[in-house]
Amino acid sequence: MVSRIIPVAPFDLVIFGGTGDLAQRKILPALFRRHCAGQLPGSEWIIGAARAGLSCADYRNIVATALREHCGPRGVDDAELTSFLSRVSYVALDGMGTQGWEELAAQLRPSAEVPVRLFYFSVGPALFAPLAERLHSHGLTNGDTRIVVEKPFGRDLQTAKALNRTLASHFDEGQIYRIDHYLGKETVQNLMAVRFGNMLFEPLWNSQYVDHIQITVAETVGIEGREDYYERSGAMRDMMQNHLMQLLCLIAMEPPAKFDPDAVRDEKLKVIRALDPVEPHHIVRGQYQARQAAEGGAQAHPSYRDTVGNPRSRTESYVALKAHISNWRWAGTPFYLRTGKRLVARSSVINVMFKDAPHSIFGAEAGRHANHLKIRLQPNEGITLSVTIKEPGQGGMRLIDVPLDMSFAEALGEEGGTPPDAYERLIMDVVRGDQTLFMRGDEVEAAWAWTDPIIAGWEARGDVPKPYDSGSTGPGDADLLMRRDGREWRGINP
Ligand code: BG6
Repeated sequence: MVSRIIPVAPFDLVIFGGTGDLAQRKILPALFRRHCAGQLPGSEWIIGAARAGLSCADYRNIVATALREHCGPRGVDDAELTSFLSRVSYVALDGMGTQGWEELAAQLRPSAEVPVRLFYFSVGPALFAPLAERLHSHGLTNGDTRIVVEKPFGRDLQTAKALNRTLASHFDEGQIYRIDHYLGKETVQNLMAVRFGNMLFEPLWNSQYVDHIQITVAETVGIEGREDYYERSGAMRDMMQNHLMQLLCLIAMEPPAKFDPDAVRDEKLKVIRALDPVEPHHIVRGQYQARQAAEGGAQAHPSYRDTVGNPRSRTESYVALKAHISNWRWAGTPFYLRTGKRLVARSSVINVMFKDAPHSIFGAEAGRHANHLKIRLQPNEGITLSVTIKEPGQGGMRLIDVPLDMSFAEALGEEGGTPPDAYERLIMDVVRGDQTLFMRGDEVEAAWAWTDPIIAGWEARGDVPKPYDSGSTGPGDADLLMRRDGREWRGINP
């Protein structure tokens, strides 16, 4: 199957934080892959901006090294690399001061020639306001200017509101692209395709037929050199408030009238606003323990507390909770969400657990059976629907559940096997001016309004996360959260 590449309009892109980790691991590799795919048709100009006093040649060397390291199995072709680097330049710039801004202005092409200008704020939120002010005072913005901002978008409702106000004083909401990279994942977008492109599921997608929904985002990695940030965030701020919240919205929202930015985001916002406050006994926090080296390759690593160098840390590296959405569609159907680091496998999965058939015509010995739709977001992207059939053979009517299993990689061939990285899709959407897969300001604020009381409750109670073994499925209390309701987590499988 041949992928359809629609070239985008010419643009100039400035990456503030151009030497940083995100630029090197995600932004530049994503641009390089789009370049190789032929989606950057002409003279796109990619300008790294950072404090370091580097020459353009130094920066190109940094970019080349980063691409070789981070472009994954698809690798880097030398000719493609040379042609990509010819688009790249560098400006040494002080985001808080005056140095470098004239040079940046000189590198951008006139708006009349290339109207689309993107400024990627790949920097801490403290720099958002100074950068926005300087962009304006140096006359670098125009009506087609777009800014891209990364998470964390605030650390609570108050800081998120302040950031929104700051950005709004310089840019229209239509120019602000708040990234949640989960929305750029191919299979996350597939959630909408599966729900709203098929007649099959939507009539059953409500509390009358769905017993409960489980959303799991399990990681095997730890906090990967981000000790300071993570110790101040924890799993609730780092993952639950944004990535899992977005998955919850997509799985629970009403069908938007159109696949357009405000129609989709209005529906997501309604879900967040319909979330009930979470009861303290419906949340479990955990913190991973050290792991000894084991036969079979498991690597040793220190405990969370040793990693951050705080023996009394109360930051959670795992959180599981039960949420309720108070609306007509979902009243009475719980949503169980969990995410954690250093778990048994890397696996992001949504399990939609349907109710038992109301009556078994086959008698009690046939057992109770319920359908189950498993949506695998990563890895091994695909969908499995469990269906009840007769167990083959003699001896009466015994029922068993069998999977109707679809792997996107197998179904779509080569293209399905290598889904584009989320950043490829999202950056091209910014160039196209499509905000559908970006968070609107009110959406982010609503997510914090739901999250804040949970965190405030932990702080007020001095809550200490439960220890859990690295390489496990998380703390035992998370299993109890389910068992109390007569349910069980589905396994965490790669
Ligand atoms: C980031 C979090 O937003 O998402 C990280 O800050 C986390 O802690 C990462 O590891 C997970 O992303 P992915 O794409 O690897 O699932």
